[in-house]
Amino acid sequence: MPRLRHIWNESPPVLRALGAQALTFLVLVALSRLFPALRSLPAWVWLLGQGGGAAALGAYWGLGLWWRGFQLFLPFALAWQAMHAVSPWFYPVALLLLLLIFGGGLLTRVPLYNSNRAAWEALLDLLPEGQSMKMVDLGAGLGGPLRFLAERRPEARFLGVEASPLVWFLAWLRTRAVAANCRMRLGSLWNEDLGTYDVVYAFLSPAPMPELGRKALAEMAPGTLLVSHTFPIPDLTPDQTIPLPGRPGACLLIYRVGGVCPTRGLPQPLP
Ligand SMILES: C[S@@+](CC[C@H](N)C(=O)[O-])C[C@H]1O[C@@H](n2cnc3c(N)ncnc32)[C@H](O)[C@@H]1O
Repeated sequence: MPRLRHIWNESPPVLRALGAQALTFLVLVALSRLFPALRSLPAWVWLLGQGGGAAALGAYWGLGLWWRGFQLFLPFALAWQAMHAVSPWFYPVALLLLLLIFGGGLLTRVPLYNSNRAAWEALLDLLPEGQSMKMVDLGAGLGGPLRFLAERRPEARFLGVEASPLVWFLAWLRTRAVAANCRMRLGSLWNEDLGTYDVVYAFLSPAPMPELGRKALAEMAPGTLLVSHTFPIPDLTPDQTIPLPGRPGACLLIYRVGGVCPTRGLPQPLP
């Protein structure tokens, strides 16, 4: 039972949020059957019961503050939309747009946010000039870092992997000017073999870091670099940490995988 609870608490927040709304709804239906007098309560009380119950249950299941606020707000928003005439296209189109932009990170719990120029410059310092090396950006977002790096290191080859279709398309457009040495692939980072890269860069979230650490250790060649923007890999000590201005706590964490491989033209960022 505790194991089941652990698995549930680790499941994607969107599942727990829906579960909390569904369970609260069932409880309210049961209450209204058991105590018919409750049915005369004003609608806002029921909405508050639905939202408050789902928020409380969400908190119990480990949902963050933002999700709890959303849980509380959701029944009121749905009631509002039921009472107002909105074009029937509005919600499917809004949902489709959200999925196209954020869909890639929905299940892996990685939202879209962009690294800043300070991060790009710190990354550039890790890539020595004149070396034909390969770098991948796992979860490439809008392609900002890749475009910046590919312009300044024409001899290196870059790949961006992005799971959200619209985001991928915008990154593809953005990197057209550097298409000679930079490609964008639409798909999941979990399907990318990391074994051919000298530098693997990722700016994700705490959720996938344990799995990414395991994947990197299993696939990356000795001496290559795994660079995580801000989110550490549990149980691994970074060889170097580069603080970044702009966001509190932002940094590049650099892990050199397994020891130095003398046959590859590797970057040497460590002192
Ligand atoms: C925080 S953004 C990082 C953007 C960019 N790498 C940067 O440094 O500016 C993370 C991106 O990872 C994408 N993403 C999340 N899960 C993914 C997955 N399993 N495979 C590929 N991309 C994923 C999200 O859609 C999002 O665009």
